[in-house]
Amino acid sequence: MRIGYTELEAKVKGMIKETRFRHSLGVAAVSRTLASRFALDPDDAAYIGIYHDAYRYSCSAATPGYCREHGIDVFPEEDKDPMLLHGALAAIHFPEDAGGSIPESFRIAVRHHTLGHRDMGRYGAVLYIADYVEPGRKHLDDDDRKRILSANRLEDMVITIMDMQQEYFSREGIQSAGVSLELYRYIKDGGELA
Ligand SMILES: [Fe+2]
Ligand SMILES: [Fe+2]
Repeated sequence: MRIGYTELEAKVKGMIKETRFRHSLGVAAVSRTLASRFALDPDDAAYIGIYHDAYRYSCSAATPGYCREHGIDVFPEEDKDPMLLHGALAAIHFPEDAGGSIPESFRIAVRHHTLGHRDMGRYGAVLYIADYVEPGRKHLDDDDRKRILSANRLEDMVITIMDMQQEYFSREGIQSAGVSLELYRYIKDGGELA
C-alpha cells in the first residue's frame, strides 16, 4: 500500500527547497480544483501535484543515461539540458518514495510535466496546467490566470499556456522542444488528451 497524501507531502518537504515546496503545495491545490471540475479524482491529482518536482534538484550530466537505463525515452532537448529530466526521475522513483505501486497515469503525468506530451493523459494535462498557473507563479497575473482557466476543456487551457509560453520563448530566443510542438499540433488538429 502506498503512503497517503499527508505522508507524501512531508517526504517531499524534505527533498526540495522551501520555495519549490510552496510551489508544489500550490500545484497540488490547483490540481485538486481542476480534477473536480473535469470529473477526475481530486486526491489522485493532489498526490501527483505534490510529488511532481521532488527531483527538481537531482539532475546532472549522468541523468540522461540513468533514465535510459530505466527504460525512459530521452528527448534531444533533455540530453542538452538534463534539468528537464526531473519529471522523468520522479516517474522512476515514484513507487519507491510512495512505498507501493503507483498507477501508470500518475507516472506518465510527472514524467511529461516539463515539456508536455500528446500522451500525457488527463492527469498529465491537469498537472501541466496547475504547474503553470499556481498562485505562487509570478510570470503571469490574475487576468492571465482567468484567461487560461476560463476555457471549458483541458486541451484549450494547454493551448493558451503554450501560446503564452511561445511569446516568452520568442522574446528570449528559445526554441520549443519537438515533443512540445507535437503536442500543440495534435490538439490543434482536434486531438484529445485521454
Ligand atoms: Fe517541474
Ligand atoms: Fe513545478
